[in-house]
Amino acid sequence: MDLNSMRTILKVVALLIHEETRKQIEAALSRIEGINISLRMVGDDRSLSEVGLKELPDVVMFEVNGHREKDIADIENILKEHGDRISVFVTTKGSDVDTTRRLMRAGVKDVYPQPLQVQEMVIGVSKVLADKRAMQRSAQGKRGGLTAFMNAKGGSGATTLAVNVAYLLRRNYDASVALIDMDIQFGSAATLLDLKPRSNVMDALLEPDRLDPIFLRALMTHHSSGLEILASPGDLSSYDGISEQAVTQLMHVAVENYDFVIVDMPRVFMPWTYAILALAEPVMLVVQNDIPTIHDARLLIEHLPLKGIAIDAIEIVNNRAMSKMHSVSIDSLKEVLHKKRVHRVRNDYEAAADAQDQGLLVVEIDKRSDMTRDIESFAENLAKSHFDRKEDKSGLFKKLFGHAN
Ligand SMILES: Nc1ncnc2c1ncn2[C@@H]1O[C@H](COP(=O)(O)OP(=O)(O)OP(=O)(O)O)[C@@H](O)[C@H]1O
Ligand SMILES: [Mg+2]
Repeated sequence: MDLNSMRTILKVVALLIHEETRKQIEAALSRIEGINISLRMVGDDRSLSEVGLKELPDVVMFEVNGHREKDIADIENILKEHGDRISVFVTTKGSDVDTTRRLMRAGVKDVYPQPLQVQEMVIGVSKVLADKRAMQRSAQGKRGGLTAFMNAKGGSGATTLAVNVAYLLRRNYDASVALIDMDIQFGSAATLLDLKPRSNVMDALLEPDRLDPIFLRALMTHHSSGLEILASPGDLSSYDGISEQAVTQLMHVAVENYDFVIVDMPRVFMPWTYAILALAEPVMLVVQNDIPTIHDARLLIEHLPLKGIAIDAIEIVNNRAMSKMHSVSIDSLKEVLHKKRVHRVRNDYEAAADAQDQGLLVVEIDKRSDMTRDIESFAENLAKSHFDRKEDKSGLFKKLFGHAN
């Protein structure tokens, strides 16, 4: 598969008045991968409509002075004509609530007051890029959904959740599920399932040209539940030889052939890790509610949108949730990580240790523990939103959840 055909480029045109704004926007947006930006100074008193764009961009960023009637009317007209195809953002020095409201009503995605908070702008534009990617993906008719689990700090429980959730999706929803362990060096998903794989993910990644549904199926290890896993070598294998192209190809083949693809991510940041995260929806960022972990989670939440990962695609799971004195409350977690919602999986040391000793999963052996119940409702949420997204309400969705809502 040609990687370029899968790479989405977002064309951004910025029509600006002040040199300072140009510098700031250029610095901010050039940090986002996949953006092709053209910055044009339009001067103070030229009408925006005179600028004339030969080719329709994906995003237009306007700088307007205060609430000049003419500029606002121009923007309204542009949106009337092209609003279904372009996203418009506005930045302005000094604007009143009425003007902002009017612009938003006309369909402007966001109005950024000056001095500019560039992070907000980065998030806004990254979201348009992510939406464009998602549209292209669905236009390509992908069957399944890809959920990536990564931790904000080692040992937060990403692997535990990935494996238990993959198992539940298979068992409770009768879906075809592929669990892909991308933690090449330390992966332990197969061990948690008490499986001895004969092939692993490197067999796929080192021969990307052979990667098709038949080859992929041949590399999978089968669990008694019907869950299929593409194991990690888990032997400190080198990352050399893993290309972004091969990883992307693997994810595409998997997504085309399974209802759910669950990926356990390593704690490494390379072009191929970003490529997986950009395809994933959602990215489950697993955190414990302690201060060092939250610090790292925040770093990631600020960094990932620069690599083409939509901020809205990132969901937070507070695993090993504890209520002891030194822990961070769910409310502060939401506030620090700018999220309205956080999933919670409670801590149960004994159940987790017991499961490991028996070579079984927590959700298999301890049906009543808080940890199991939380993981079950987490998996149910994931399944629901997945089928919702696919708007498969008449078919699988109905079968699984009783009724279409
Ligand atoms: N909710 C929980 N309650 C109690 N123990 C848990 C819970 N979730 C995970 N654990 C335990 O925490 C430990 C670390 O979990 P896990 O290996 O899944 O983390 P990880 O984020 O994948 O770590 P790594 O950085 O090694 O990839 C394991 O021993 C696991 O059994
Ligand atoms: Mg892990």
